[in-house]
Amino acid sequence: MFAHRQIILIAALIVGGGQALGQAPSEDSYDYFRLNCSSCHTIGGGDLVGPDLKGVLDRQERDWLIDFMLDPAGTIDGGDAYAQEIFRAAKGQYMTKIPSLDRAKAGAMMDLITHESGLEKSVFAGMQLSDRPLTRDDEKLGRKLFLGQAEFAAGGPACNSCHTLVDLGGFGGGRLGPDLTSAYSRLDGRKALSAWLSAPPSEVMSPVFADHPLEGDEVLALVAFLKHAAASGEMEAESLTMDFLLASFAGAALVLILLDLAWRKRYRATRRPLLNRTRAGKATR
Ligand code: HEC
Ligand code: HEC
Repeated sequence: MFAHRQIILIAALIVGGGQALGQAPSEDSYDYFRLNCSSCHTIGGGDLVGPDLKGVLDRQERDWLIDFMLDPAGTIDGGDAYAQEIFRAAKGQYMTKIPSLDRAKAGAMMDLITHESGLEKSVFAGMQLSDRPLTRDDEKLGRKLFLGQAEFAAGGPACNSCHTLVDLGGFGGGRLGPDLTSAYSRLDGRKALSAWLSAPPSEVMSPVFADHPLEGDEVLALVAFLKHAAASGEMEAESLTMDFLLASFAGAALVLILLDLAWRKRYRATRRPLLNRTRAGKATR
């Protein structure tokens, strides 16, 4: 009896005391922010696709922000004035609804943002990418990487297995992802697009690229290529057609393998018992 109470008291002290002392957020929270938020937000490094989150709790109530994060589009379309204002400031880009984000995680993100906002320089103040000028060589490398003519260091699939760039008369790259011709301007230029590509907040891309992240120079090369694509629009369409044709076969095969690996992990729990049941059924027959 006494022992129980002591344990509860100690537990309460650890939980409560930790918060009172402004204990550093958990490693999990950092990983979560890095994977799910840093592609669109810095903390003290300026706006990307989404606003800089430094000191966001001075601008808006914690509970409001948590509700917003759980249903961004709903809150904006619901007509809330503050939501409309930050939506306009973000040039009409909606914050994506993040499937794994629940109330507890959203709260943990608020704690993390509060903690990091109080620091001289947050680890999320800016990306570790160089801001050197983009060169013609970057652009060429980016083109090769996009088309699968050069390999990513971490083994990720070529972009054209899921994306095309311009209308190539039906011969373009993959159709699973959107046409990227205007991605550079849509995602607001170099800084935001670089952050986006460093940890793609896309349900399809993130499981594939989480295990095969793009390196800094590869991100810069792709940004240079997409910038060029946005500027020239037409994009030497003819010469690309053949490249797309050849590379997209190899690329599509690799994507299928990677997606299978990623999804196998996720569905193992449901698929395995099913398989076993089928096998058991056959054995008894
Ligand atoms: C795809 C880009 C994107 C991702 C990923 C994203 N956000 Fe956002 N976020 C936005 C945009 C854009 C806004 C501004 C409102 C709008 O237009 O939807 C916003 C607004 C916010 C706001 C309110 C900011 C303010 O100034 O009041 C908070 C807080 C926030 N996001 C937190 C997060 C957290 C935490 C994550 C990760 C779990 C996250 N966001 C992931 C794009 C994103
Ligand atoms: C497995 C398929 C797949 C691969 C491979 C892939 N993407 Fe994507 N990408 C998508 C999908 C699907 C979307 C749309 C967002 C969503 O539905 O998740 C997307 C969205 C994007 C966007 C955002 C476009 C916008 O206008 O919002 C960019 C930029 C992008 N991808 C760039 C790339 C680059 C660069 C590569 C190569 C490194 C790549 N993608 C590889 C499937 C893929």
